[in-house]
Amino acid sequence: MNAQLVILDFGSQYTQLIARTVRELGVYCEIIPGTASSEKVLRSNPKAIILSGGAASVIGDDALRTHPAVMTSGLPLFGICYGMQLLADEFGGKVGGWARDAVSGSHGDAGGDGLREFGPAVVTIEKNVGPFSALAPNTDIHVWMSHGDKVTELPPGFVSVAKSNGSPIAAFANTERNIYGVQFHPEVHHTPRGKEILASFLFDCAKLERDWDSEGFIAQTIEGIKKTVPTGNVICGLSGGVDSTVAAVLVSRAIGDRLHCIFVDNGVLRLNETTFVMENLTKLGLNVTLVDASKRFLDELAGVTDPETKRKIIGRVFIEVFEEEAHRVEGAQYLVQGTLYPDVIESVSVVGKSAVIKSHHNVGGLIENMKLKLIEPLRELFKDEVRRVGTELGIPSELILRQPFPGPGLGIRCLGEVTEERLKKLRIADRIVTEEINRAGLNATLWQSFAVLLPVRSVGVMGDGRTYDETIAIRAVTSRDGMTADWYLLPEDVLRRMSSRIVNETDGVNRVVLDVTSKPPSTIEWE
Ligand code: XMP
Repeated sequence: MNAQLVILDFGSQYTQLIARTVRELGVYCEIIPGTASSEKVLRSNPKAIILSGGAASVIGDDALRTHPAVMTSGLPLFGICYGMQLLADEFGGKVGGWARDAVSGSHGDAGGDGLREFGPAVVTIEKNVGPFSALAPNTDIHVWMSHGDKVTELPPGFVSVAKSNGSPIAAFANTERNIYGVQFHPEVHHTPRGKEILASFLFDCAKLERDWDSEGFIAQTIEGIKKTVPTGNVICGLSGGVDSTVAAVLVSRAIGDRLHCIFVDNGVLRLNETTFVMENLTKLGLNVTLVDASKRFLDELAGVTDPETKRKIIGRVFIEVFEEEAHRVEGAQYLVQGTLYPDVIESVSVVGKSAVIKSHHNVGGLIENMKLKLIEPLRELFKDEVRRVGTELGIPSELILRQPFPGPGLGIRCLGEVTEERLKKLRIADRIVTEEINRAGLNATLWQSFAVLLPVRSVGVMGDGRTYDETIAIRAVTSRDGMTADWYLLPEDVLRRMSSRIVNETDGVNRVVLDVTSKPPSTIEWE
């Protein structure tokens, strides 16, 4: 789909949030590195450009510059934070740095010192022009600031439209050229009126049309898939997760039973998972084959305790099983994958090679071996959009609102050896954690919540007898994307219920502990 709006990314942690907000407003947009060639930026024939924030400094050696042709394209431009400073610099204004020595790295509240601003601040809108038209002059709005540099001198032809304690030019406008900048972040929810400002830019200044909603996306995607695969079979691996389910339903709406879904029971699934998944997927009209390979996986895992070895075994056996099954599907040339937009966005900077913390398994090898081509119907979507599309497709909310579950499953939550007996304990504890989280209405608040079985035995007393049993750890985290996470303090009554149910209902567990570490320095999964 052609993007009417391009977001130039200068590395801000909020760039994806800008895109999601723009799309929520009904405009399809794409993120492109801010330093990309002008051909690339202008390829989709955009009608407007947003320049994101970023940690670089336009007056430093690390300045990230955009191609001059983009600046002189005549398109409506909207700069946010670094984006605003870049506009100021390019159009002949001045940007000043913050006094490093004076603040020595402290992150105080915004405003007041006239230096750096981090956090909440109040901005007074002085002129209601352009994107600020909806806000009357002298309106104070709460905003989120996160900047060191700021615009100190307006470029010719620009007027200042807002001020804060720390920034006399907190927003500027050149209505003739349709160019605007804000020092604060309108895309975050700490700027409650930010969405109005962005909407005014999109619809009043840039005259964009609403071209993006779930219904339109579904219709267009189904048409596209019909054209791509007019005949022949297509294969899809289902995990029971949101992405693969939504991807499969979309493809099946286009090609019906020519889509062959494969669901592998790898022996490390949650309690009653196969029944839950198979029932739901069949109800959705999918043509699914369940492959029970649990024994094969558990045989291969016997005696293995090293986390990376476990991951590699589960990954390898999955590919083997999937490939064998996929070969049964005659003449298949395509494989469906639930790749999402955040996985395909190019990043602005390549920061060295990062260490392998955990090897995630994917079906890359399969595609090469079988010479399959990919269908990725969710490539343009963010996770929240996938959920909306899924709901629109009639997928039940129990499936849509599921928390992420790792490919290696309970194998990496069963620390030590993975045996049937130990998995049984973990499944019961995991079910109790899930039930109590749902009962407390916390499922959607948490990124993930689960039980981990530790190979640590300790002494306990039950009735009159001594026990010497294993330990369950409870993990509950919030996160935006799984890259970082915060541990979540579950309410006392929830913890009490979980703890007493786990020791009472799980044979061979006599102690429950709580994981109170964030990521980093921990990871979400224990292995
Ligand atoms: P970590 O443990 O690295 O996990 O903090 C980050 C997120 O990724 C999930 N995860 C996986 N997902 N295959 C997956 O599909 C994997 O091998 C895998 N390992 C971890 C994890 O559940 C968390 O959401």
